[in-house]
Amino acid sequence: MPTMADVARSAGVSVATVSHVLNETRPVLPHTRQAVLDAIEELGYTPNTLARSLVTSRTRSIGLAVSAISNPYFTEILQGVEAAVLEHGYGLLIADPHDDPEHERKVVQLLHERRVDGLIVAPSADPRALLAYLGRHAVPTVLLDRIVDGHADTASPFDQVCAENTGPTARLVTHLAGLGHRRIGLVAGLPGLSTTGERVAGYRQGLAAAGLPLDEDLIVPGNSEASGAERATAALLSLAAPPTALVTANNAMTIGALRALRTRGLSVPEGIALCCFDDFAWADLFSPRLTAVAQPSRELGAEAVRVLLERLASPGRPARTVRLPCAFVHRTSCGCREEDTAEDRPRTRNTPSTSSALQHPGKGTLS
Ligand code: HPA
Repeated sequence: MPTMADVARSAGVSVATVSHVLNETRPVLPHTRQAVLDAIEELGYTPNTLARSLVTSRTRSIGLAVSAISNPYFTEILQGVEAAVLEHGYGLLIADPHDDPEHERKVVQLLHERRVDGLIVAPSADPRALLAYLGRHAVPTVLLDRIVDGHADTASPFDQVCAENTGPTARLVTHLAGLGHRRIGLVAGLPGLSTTGERVAGYRQGLAAAGLPLDEDLIVPGNSEASGAERATAALLSLAAPPTALVTANNAMTIGALRALRTRGLSVPEGIALCCFDDFAWADLFSPRLTAVAQPSRELGAEAVRVLLERLASPGRPARTVRLPCAFVHRTSCGCREEDTAEDRPRTRNTPSTSSALQHPGKGTLS
């Protein structure tokens, strides 16, 4: 096994210079740096990261804790995180807290004990133990997707990266209202998650913008997962005056809602119109193709890494929250005709409507 001394000899520099190149602990002239990198390549030298960490007190690794890694939304976030981490020469350790507050604190502690330089965490619906741990140990952390309030009027003490939720959900509601729907149901997420609260707020905002009354019976928690959404949708369909359109507040709940509609023999959009928060790779393979809000999932992951690296470089700077815009992906489950979805043209609904058609852009950035 070649050693650092072998690299130094081959490159004609001191061992200290090799160490500075490897650990980026001091600037090294470009041609000297290149000579060291060439010698490393030629000799097949593999740095001992444990030894390096003892020198730098850094492991050049980042911990990621997100629940539901198998959900395509989080899988794409993970891809964005991984690509950005590798690009910056960091390693990645991953844990799934399973949306369980106690498990969440445990896995975050495990990552921290592995001495990751920083953490990216999508908190559970009850993140008190997590936040207390992170605060107590001053772990550089970016909260991802689910954001938290600070205590009593203060901003969150942590950097946060999330997507816009309110405006895009309002957009789904006004789109359906524009097509003549007056009773629009919401299959909402797990109480306690910021994404749930913001999407419910967006639903209310959309109704208000469309001049529609709010009926609390039309908001049913689907708890962010398919079976909860199946039950929620069945409950909505059992109302004395059931909705003529549905908004589902995430991808998993869209699947559950579609199951409930199939059980009832209701077709989309003729029997009931459907608009979904979350786009996914096969959303346009459904018949009809799903009108959806697309989150910038990969970019969310990459942005979380950027913000965390910034925090590591400037530990003292104030915490900030970054919000990324979503896109409205106009397809046909809302009731619009295929030929009306691609571009910004006046819409005509292909099911009987009580109001005139409105104009909606085909696809655009929302905020
Ligand atoms: N947050 C935001 N969007 C989502 C989630 C979530 O937990 N799950 C599926 N889409």
